[in-house]
Amino acid sequence: MSKNDKKQQVETTGHEWDGIQEFNNPLPRWWVWVFYVTIGWGLWYTVAYPAWPLLTGATEGYKGFSTRGQVAADIAAVEAQNAPNNAALAASDLATLQTANPALYSYAVNAGGAVFRTNCVQCHGNEGMGATGYPTLSDDDWLWGGSVVDIAYTVSNGVRNESSPDARFSQMPAFGDILSNEEIANVVAYVRALSGQEADATAAAAGQQVFLDNCSACHGEDGKGDRMVGAPNLADALWLYGGDAATITQTVKNARFGVMPAWSEAFRDGGLTQAEVNAVAIYVHQLGGGE
Ligand code: HEC
Ligand code: HEC
Repeated sequence: MSKNDKKQQVETTGHEWDGIQEFNNPLPRWWVWVFYVTIGWGLWYTVAYPAWPLLTGATEGYKGFSTRGQVAADIAAVEAQNAPNNAALAASDLATLQTANPALYSYAVNAGGAVFRTNCVQCHGNEGMGATGYPTLSDDDWLWGGSVVDIAYTVSNGVRNESSPDARFSQMPAFGDILSNEEIANVVAYVRALSGQEADATAAAAGQQVFLDNCSACHGEDGKGDRMVGAPNLADALWLYGGDAATITQTVKNARFGVMPAWSEAFRDGGLTQAEVNAVAIYVHQLGGGE
């Protein structure tokens, strides 16, 4: 078809530049329809989904979709999947679980690790490494007991808090008001000698009697501690607050009052369920120091 034939069939737009004319070809039908469909789809989308900005937030859309809702649904799905395990874990005998149900035990270790990383690391450190004032949970030194049942009790009720009536409790007196400075210096030397550290021998010898009179009721005659009252072992090289003379002197003068929150949901909003308590107890127990 020559240029001139075509010129006769198709209208021009009437525009002309230096003898060049512009044809007025219609858009292809399919293209026009796709164009209308996208407009329709765009309008429907703004009605169906959150779209139009409002002063606070945006229109909700009739489908009620939200990304938060989606996350909540995902979480609910995972919880539904874990529900049977959690129910079994909440009701199981922790002491024998490892042999009785190895699959549930390994579920508990993983779930407990997640609970620990969320709720416990800020005080007890990564993998229970501990920090000054916060006991290491991965060693063999236990204030309150290292069996999985003891650990679950400590986690549920905490230590020296006011939320659980069954919180573990004991209080070391502040000896600053009770003993003279000399007696304190002597007993500190004795405690240092007990734990195999360098100490003035005469002071330590004098301190032994002070210790037997004032300290052994809780820390034991041999200084090895007493779990009934959460009194730490002073004869090992593991320290909660520190084993140098200055720190021990401060501990003896002012005493400490380490507080651990009660974690059971019975004692706090958003606390741990029984399954979570059991899981984290099992996790802590297998960190290395479990008894
Ligand atoms: C706010 C800080 C804090 C948080 C968070 C915390 N703890 Fe503790 N926890 C302590 C303190 C302080 C002690 C020591 C109390 C004492 O002096 O007797 C302790 C003691 C313990 C003990 C006893 C250790 C022993 O030697 O007998 C266990 C077990 C324990 N925590 C587990 C946990 C677990 C599991 C979590 C997480 C669910 C947790 N803790 C969260 C502060 C905390
Ligand atoms: C009524 C019981 C009680 C008596 C008596 C007592 N203590 Fe304690 N002592 C504790 C408890 C409980 C703790 C742990 C405190 C905490 O974690 O907050 C502790 C902690 C300590 C610590 C810290 C250990 C560490 O790992 O950092 C030292 C040191 C200590 N006591 C020395 C003494 C000395 C010395 C005496 C005697 C002059 C004494 N205590 C008497 C209960 C007692």
